Amino acid sequence: MGDNPRRPILMLLTSHWLTFVGAALATTAICSWLFALPVQLRGHTSNPYIGILVFIIIPVVLIAGLILIVAGIFFGRKRLEKMQRHLIALPDRRIYLRRIAVFFVLTAAVNIVIGAEATYRAVEHMETAQFCGQSCHVMKPEFTARQNSPHARVLCVDCHVAPGAAGWVTSKAAGTRQLLDVVFHRARKPIESAIQSGRLVPSRVTCEQCHWPQKFDAVKLRVIERFQEDAANTETQTVLMMLIGGGDLGGIHGKHMGPGVEIHYAASDSARQTIPWVECRNRKTGVSNAFLADGSNPASIANLPRYEMQCVDCHNRPTHTFDLPDRAVDGALAEGRIASTLPFIKKEAVLLLKAKYASNDEASRAIPAALTEYYRQSDPALCNKRGQDIAAAGAEIAAIYNRNVFPDLKVSWGTYPNNLGHTDAPGCFRCHDGSHSTSDKKESITQDCNTCHEPLAMDEAPPGVLKTLNLSDYAASLQKK
Ligand code: HEC
Ligand code: HEC
Ligand code: HEC
Ligand code: HEC
Ligand code: HEC
Repeated sequence: MGDNPRRPILMLLTSHWLTFVGAALATTAICSWLFALPVQLRGHTSNPYIGILVFIIIPVVLIAGLILIVAGIFFGRKRLEKMQRHLIALPDRRIYLRRIAVFFVLTAAVNIVIGAEATYRAVEHMETAQFCGQSCHVMKPEFTARQNSPHARVLCVDCHVAPGAAGWVTSKAAGTRQLLDVVFHRARKPIESAIQSGRLVPSRVTCEQCHWPQKFDAVKLRVIERFQEDAANTETQTVLMMLIGGGDLGGIHGKHMGPGVEIHYAASDSARQTIPWVECRNRKTGVSNAFLADGSNPASIANLPRYEMQCVDCHNRPTHTFDLPDRAVDGALAEGRIASTLPFIKKEAVLLLKAKYASNDEASRAIPAALTEYYRQSDPALCNKRGQDIAAAGAEIAAIYNRNVFPDLKVSWGTYPNNLGHTDAPGCFRCHDGSHSTSDKKESITQDCNTCHEPLAMDEAPPGVLKTLNLSDYAASLQKK
């Protein structure tokens, strides 16, 4: 046996320096894993680059080590064959063989433990918002917007990954493609909206897992605060009673998503902002209506892609909500984040937000400076007296800019329109514009102002209805804080 040139395993393992280098690399990789993994994974807030180290670099080093070990064995074997050809005696290998076997079993056991732990933690880590939103800079706008939304605690994967193993694999394939796009600078700027790229997982397996479509409030009071661009920043309020409904209740939800209701539509652009054909079928009543927009005919819509209506056709921005300058400033004034007692602050803030800045850093510097400069020029006394309020307002305006505009990613005001409404984007009026009617023109999709909401007050200051409900004092107290 000792003379068999095919089995000098110990010698094979120990007779070439490449094997040692490989073993050293592999051991180092395993040890760094042991140390880096717990540090990285226990807390979810750590630096995403450590994630790249743990999940990409260390495995590459480990694999390189293993390849070197194999290469070392290959060359070692050549060397042994040469020794045997020259009849140089080889020592007895049995003892060493046994030791090596023990060594391998132990190493394998340790590796399995580490591997299992690493895989589990890696999977867990990949579910965190940090992994999705921060490892990948191009998703910064979505990550930022989510942090200020009702879904701030909902994981990215709950809305973007279908449940089950297939969804997980699809999402990892998509993630790998996105990583390559970023590495090779192929990523689109701005990234297409998820509806536009056709990659959004159906609402049925996401939204509807948490929100039960048949159970909604009948109505909801919406108070919309607006501020005019005059010296006093005059505040007005619009109060809408939203007829949300749901299930058999009818209303907004019931009419599109109620039992038996199915709405299909055709869109002529990928962002689905132009909808020339809509069909509404009710499986319970058997009624079915097709509506064509003025200027369209059956031939012009025949080849357009068709979709079934779902939650995200209206709620396309439930968490990545980007504002327009005017509305963002109104929100900050209403909540007292900007002092509404500063003369012309609404007008100035909107002007500053609409200006162009080369980067978010520049906006953070330029906006507060420009605001202070404005008050220094227009009213030096006020500027001295209210320096603190002006500085706070400047910082808030810059923060609004940095939440909504990302110059390096080409995300700007209005890049991602919100379909829930009709004042800032076509939204509901993509279908409810009064021009969509049946072929006999007897019925059309309604644009009646009282169908979706009952306007209880329109731009009043302050509305009687809020006084009745004792809500106007409450709003005022918020702003004083
Ligand atoms: C409550 C559900 C929800 C959560 C949570 C969520 N998203 Fe989204 N996301 C959406 C919807 C809906 C769209 C489609 C928007 C559209 O097409 O108009 C979208 C679109 C996107 C897009 C495409 C670009 C765009 O703005 O349309 C990216 C990128 C994205 N999300 C990343 C993330 C990341 C990263 C997280 C976690 C930090 C996250 N999402 C969490 C619902 C969600
Ligand atoms: C993992 C659970 C979960 C998923 C998935 C989820 N949501 Fe929500 N959503 C919530 C919770 C919890 C709230 C309530 C937050 C609050 O009241 O502060 C909420 C609130 C909302 C609201 C009310 C916001 C407001 O201003 O009052 C809307 C609208 C909404 N979700 C739509 C959606 C849509 C559309 C989707 C799918 C794209 C979705 N949600 C997916 C858990 C979820
Ligand atoms: C036809 C458009 C449309 C569709 C489709 C739609 N919604 Fe809504 N939804 C609305 C409107 C409009 C409101 C009221 C928004 C407001 O004024 O705050 C609303 C409100 C909500 C709210 C807040 C309710 C409350 O009482 O505060 C939730 C949650 C919600 N929708 C979830 C969903 C889910 C989940 C789906 C899919 C099953 C869905 N919506 C489908 C238009 C729609
Ligand atoms: C894809 C097209 C489409 C979009 C977008 C759309 N709807 Fe509708 N909506 C319809 C259709 C179709 C009907 C049923 C019309 C019919 O059968 O008379 C309808 C009916 C309604 C009704 C009941 C009307 C009635 O006469 O009782 C309400 C309320 C409503 N929609 C609210 C909304 C709101 C709010 C939005 C935006 C958040 C919206 N819809 C967006 C297609 C749409
Ligand atoms: C198809 C349903 C629908 C119809 C029809 C409709 N609205 Fe609306 N409207 C909405 C929704 C949804 C919102 C957004 C509520 C929110 O911000 O949550 C809205 C918001 C508004 C607002 C508040 C705008 C703001 O500043 O935020 C006003 C004002 C308004 N509607 C007036 C009208 C008038 C006037 C008509 C008649 C021409 C009308 N609406 C018809 C669904 C509808």
